[in-house]
Amino acid sequence: MRSLKLVTAVAAALALAACATQPTGTTSSLPAHPGVKYGKAMSDLDADAWNIDIRTSDGRGLPPGSGSVADGKRIYDQRCVACHGPDAKGGSVYGSMVGGFDTMKTDKRVLTPGSMYPYAPILFDYIRRAMPMDSPQSLKDNEVYALSAYILNLNGLVPANAVMDARSLAAVQMPNRNAFVVDDRPDTKAVRCMRDCIK
Ligand code: HEC
Repeated sequence: MRSLKLVTAVAAALALAACATQPTGTTSSLPAHPGVKYGKAMSDLDADAWNIDIRTSDGRGLPPGSGSVADGKRIYDQRCVACHGPDAKGGSVYGSMVGGFDTMKTDKRVLTPGSMYPYAPILFDYIRRAMPMDSPQSLKDNEVYALSAYILNLNGLVPANAVMDARSLAAVQMPNRNAFVVDDRPDTKAVRCMRDCIK
């Protein structure tokens, strides 16, 4: 039932978002996805176009470019507000993207980029890959930096005059950076701490 509700809400929001005026010049800076076909050998170059991975712990792989909080607000109000609501406080299909820092050790965790991302470059990576949901990968890198700056500012993590780029985004200290246990599934080869882990 819950998923049916979400599907209906997403469909409604998509219709709303489609009505909003699309800003011009929003061609993605990502390489066009290659015409990969069954039976056609895939070259390294073809594979590169799909590799938009960012190492979120230190930002390795973040592209050139930058964006300010003010630009992020402008883009947000055009491309994101229909689903996420004014000031990212929750909209038709998704809850708040702001705050919740102190709820992580409670039964009612409020999961937002501010509370649940240990590293700020996750925000860039997520937005560039997946948002806006009605037109993913349509944003320029400068726009993604600006939206990251805006959402971080709404979370009180960077000042209103902040400009995010590869260096400044990776330097943002996320409040719950040390509040997660290590993923110790065998393939990660990580050893989970069992005692006095969270100082
Ligand atoms: C058509 C609706 C829609 C639009 C437009 C949209 N989003 Fe989303 N967004 C969603 C949904 C639904 C989710 C949750 C997806 C999931 O959990 O799989 C989401 C999730 C997110 C998240 C992850 C939130 C979290 O707590 O981790 C971020 C960040 C985000 N969106 C940013 C944006 C930005 C920035 C824009 C504008 C460029 C945007 N979204 C536009 C529907 C939308």
